Amino acid sequence: MDERERIISTQMHNEDDAQDNTLRPRTLTDYIGQTKLKENLRIFIEAARIRGDSLDHVLLYGPPGLGKTTLSQIIAAELGVNLRATSGPAIERPGDLAAILTNLAPFDVLFIDEIHRLNRTVEEVLYPAMEDFALDIIIGKGPSARSLRLDLAPFTLVGATTRAGALSSPLRDRFGVVARLEFYQDHELQEIVTRAAKILQVDIDPQGALTIAKSARGTPRVANRLLKRVRDFAQVKADNIITQEVARWALQKLEVDILGLDEVDRHLLRTMVEKFAGGPVGLDTLAAAISEETETIEDVYEPYLMQIGFLQRTPRGRIVTPQACRHLGIDFQANNDQNSLW
Ligand code: ADE
Repeated sequence: MDERERIISTQMHNEDDAQDNTLRPRTLTDYIGQTKLKENLRIFIEAARIRGDSLDHVLLYGPPGLGKTTLSQIIAAELGVNLRATSGPAIERPGDLAAILTNLAPFDVLFIDEIHRLNRTVEEVLYPAMEDFALDIIIGKGPSARSLRLDLAPFTLVGATTRAGALSSPLRDRFGVVARLEFYQDHELQEIVTRAAKILQVDIDPQGALTIAKSARGTPRVANRLLKRVRDFAQVKADNIITQEVARWALQKLEVDILGLDEVDRHLLRTMVEKFAGGPVGLDTLAAAISEETETIEDVYEPYLMQIGFLQRTPRGRIVTPQACRHLGIDFQANNDQNSLW
């Protein structure tokens, strides 16, 4: 794959991966939730426009599905510039990044998803690019090698990551705006679902939208995915109208419970109780026990389970909480007594 193909394929991957592109808001006004961040971004964008300057580099971090890619597209649209989207693992060599950077027009936004997965040599090209809009090129080898500085157009890097802690500090320090995306409130997700239903041309009442919102684990991507599946049930079985009753029935068919836990969440929690007496259990051990990647557990499952108080990370490992057992209908004490008999 050459550089162009790789960039295009990364863009397509981002688009597939994220929810249907038609559902994405295009402006800050249409973007629901993340209120403080949105208000601040509006000011920073306006100020950069007034100064005729590039917007400072922005790092967005937080669990998947909360709108990092969407926000990068909105930032570019609000600045009135192009967006170039790629991802950390797609940029294999320093030359790949140099090719992308030299092709940017003034003030463009470069979006790098999973920026914590950039390799070290590529990262080093990024430092002078971010700081001085310059590329340092080494010509020749050995004692006759010379360094040449090439000017770049001013640009804004928007980096996204699920794990800010995995970024090296020289990279993290070069972002002028560092923002953590928060899980969404139920009423915000209800609004997102209502907006998406309108675009998808399916009738939904406020209670139907709230039912889907409550099962969406604080995450718009999940909310829109559930909406589409509930819509299938409504279309075939309920005159294309999503009421609370239709939503509850469809979610039950989808095996998504009232808090939005799915099969994997439940399997993880049950395994902790049944095989490890509720913990503490190490991440690697847990991952092996449920046949999942440690990264998936850390980035996808745990943040929401911790948010709702079902799981805690401690220095000795993960522990499951009594609330989680109550929700799953497990008698924690009886289970422990049984374990101790073995
Ligand atoms: N669709 C997905 N995320 C959204 C958001 N934050 N606001 C509006 N629509 C969305």
